[in-house]
Amino acid sequence: MGHLRSKGLDHLNLTGEGRVEEPAGLELLLDVPPHGRRRRAVEESLRSAVRTGRLLPGTRLPSSRDLALHLGLSRGTVAAAYEQLVAEGWLTARSGSGTRVAADVDTPASARRHRPTPPPAAHDLRPGRPDSHAFPRAAWSRAMRRALREAPADTFEAGDPRGRTELRLTLAAYLGRVRGVRTDPSHLIVCSGFTQAVGLLTEVFAQLGVGTVGMEDPAVGDHVSIVASRLDVADLPVDADGVSHTALAASGAQAVVCTPAHQFPLGMSMSPARRADLLAWADERVGWIVEDDYDGEFRYDRHPIGALQARRPSRVVYAGSTSKSLGPGVRLGWIACPPHLLDPLTEAKRRARGTSPLEQLALARMIEAGDYDRHLRTVRRAYRRRRDLLAEAVRSRLPGARLLGVQAGLQTILELPAGSPDETTVTQALRAASIELHPLGAYLRSAPARRRTSLVVGYGAPSASRYAEAVEALVNCLRRLRPS
Ligand SMILES: Cc1ncc(COP(=O)(O)O)c(C=O)c1O
Repeated sequence: MGHLRSKGLDHLNLTGEGRVEEPAGLELLLDVPPHGRRRRAVEESLRSAVRTGRLLPGTRLPSSRDLALHLGLSRGTVAAAYEQLVAEGWLTARSGSGTRVAADVDTPASARRHRPTPPPAAHDLRPGRPDSHAFPRAAWSRAMRRALREAPADTFEAGDPRGRTELRLTLAAYLGRVRGVRTDPSHLIVCSGFTQAVGLLTEVFAQLGVGTVGMEDPAVGDHVSIVASRLDVADLPVDADGVSHTALAASGAQAVVCTPAHQFPLGMSMSPARRADLLAWADERVGWIVEDDYDGEFRYDRHPIGALQARRPSRVVYAGSTSKSLGPGVRLGWIACPPHLLDPLTEAKRRARGTSPLEQLALARMIEAGDYDRHLRTVRRAYRRRRDLLAEAVRSRLPGARLLGVQAGLQTILELPAGSPDETTVTQALRAASIELHPLGAYLRSAPARRRTSLVVGYGAPSASRYAEAVEALVNCLRRLRPS
């Protein structure tokens, strides 16, 4: 099969100035041999493209003039092929909207599309999702417009793998101001979120001979899977003070991934004593601590807890992202990197690529203009109100149940009364009531003996207008499941 553009020049009109006349409209890849019954060949080639689903129902085709020019055929030949296919029902032709693949042809793709997918649940209470309706569109659009207007030409080149200098300068100051992070802009690597950071670090740890990485249990399954794809993972239990230091010491791990400011999903912050133990472990074993600061800006009842990284920038890799502050669709994150890891991590990021420089500039503009702080203040207030509403509903209507880890973040653990049905039964009942929510067991890799049925309730995702209704639906459903 040859792409139309790669055909010889003999079929194209050369203008007086020696310019090649290019078809102006849509392009289409068709397999039409240079000789023989070419109208038939156009027909068969189009029929086969529709039948196999390569051309989807509704797809607009080039005008007969353009396609003829592409293929080096007369316009009449292509027009006749189109007419034949319209008559057979493969195509439709309407003045104004041109020639299109008929909307009702059966193709493998349309069969796939028509397979019924379950409707989304009415109430999304999955953890860690911010309210996408609260995305700061006006501020982001101002920042994007300004970024585009002022972007130097090298924005559109491959550029420094660590990311735009403008954003690294701004972030170094922002993270120092808000999270106490101690870093130099040259040691910051902009990436596409924490998940990418875990992938890059896994690669670098493997290069450096790290064999085992300790990971909190519970944790985000994707992060554990990414590390486990190249390295051994030691499951580290979490207690009220945070990740177990004794389990870490016994595991032989040379690196640990943890969430000191706000354990995910349990919600406690790491105690000062545990922080000191962890740093002592890193000093003694020359180990790496990866600090996942995924929602450090969302603390409600007291001052934010500063980053662990500030205590040992040489051994702590600090990573954060805009996934909670703006939304997981934005795909912007950062790594404050110990000097020893800078070169291999920069090289890993160069190979991975993939963080839009224009959006990096926009985030820098948004932070500099004060719009990022303003947005965070607004949503923090809104999330605190949501947390309070949930807490009041549980207190007043679910006797025996309790909420854990309510001081921060976008989720909390709802521990149901003793004697409640198990987590599978409860989540099934919730799904039947059109409530989507994860049980705590979904994040645990080992099963601690005797624990209450617990749900991880995310209170960020429903829109402001639907949130109270979601809490009401949750409480009503759980009341029906109460132990008698
Ligand atoms: C514990 C934890 N860390 C990090 C992230 C953010 O990951 P990313 O920045 O790749 O969206 C999340 C988001 O779901 C999370 O729950």
